[in-house]
Amino acid sequence: MKRSILLTGASGNLGGTVLKGLTDAGYHVLATAGSPDGAEALQSDTVDAVALDLTDEALVQAYIRSISANWDITAAILLVGGFMPGKITETDGAGLRKMIALNFETAFYPVRELLPVFEKRGGGQFILIGTRPALEAKEGKNLAAYALSKGLVFQLAELVNAYGKGKGIDATVIVPSTIDTPANRKAMPDAGHSKWVSPQAITDAMLYVLSDSGRQMRESVLKLYHES
Ligand SMILES: NC(=O)c1ccc[n+]([C@@H]2O[C@H](COP(=O)([O-])OP(=O)(O)OC[C@H]3O[C@@H](n4cnc5c(N)ncnc54)[C@H](OP(=O)(O)O)[C@@H]3O)[C@@H](O)[C@H]2O)c1
Repeated sequence: MKRSILLTGASGNLGGTVLKGLTDAGYHVLATAGSPDGAEALQSDTVDAVALDLTDEALVQAYIRSISANWDITAAILLVGGFMPGKITETDGAGLRKMIALNFETAFYPVRELLPVFEKRGGGQFILIGTRPALEAKEGKNLAAYALSKGLVFQLAELVNAYGKGKGIDATVIVPSTIDTPANRKAMPDAGHSKWVSPQAITDAMLYVLSDSGRQMRESVLKLYHES
């Protein structure tokens, strides 16, 4: 079977740069997008793209089973996520559940389905996306549901690393500060964009994690805060 890497959220602001970095580096990519049009735009000789709601447990299960029957998946980069402002006192159950579904379940279901696949092939890597407000309460106090839901991603990585110890299975968490994307520039036109972390820097960190040397790292939490 040919090797491939799973990339979720490939149609997103960060995902586009990561996808290009992976294919430029010679990887075949199994990419997911949020919509059929988004998936179609990603399709190429080295990218097989689908539209998939990653919050749908049954759909994710069926998708991972199907791709792992046809590809030797060596790594999964799970980028799907979303943002919601609000202090604890402004956060209702619906908002909290929405953030947990978008930021945590979208990572949990692929991880759960891929763990036995990685175990069977003798190893595999997960790269997850955390966020600084989940690590620093002063950054997260106005982003309660977002920070709490991303906090679960860090815990998921720790559980994966405990499960995968001695099995060649590892999870890295990348922690960006504000990413320099067109969406963030539009939302914060007066902010100091030059202090933000570039999507290319995050992509380069991921390519290192996937490299022969990077595969020797374990339980890494990589903070890419640049100057912000
Ligand atoms: N942007 C930042 O400054 C920043 C900072 C720290 C951490 N992060 C994290 O970095 C990651 C990428 O951020 P980004 O700025 O690239 O986000 P983005 O532009 O909003 O992209 C999100 C991606 O997730 C997909 N998606 C959304 N809901 C989905 C669902 N239910 N099922 C499947 N796919 C879904 C989107 O698909 P469609 O667009 O096709 O619908 C898109 O590909 C996220 O986890 C985010 O929390 C971002």
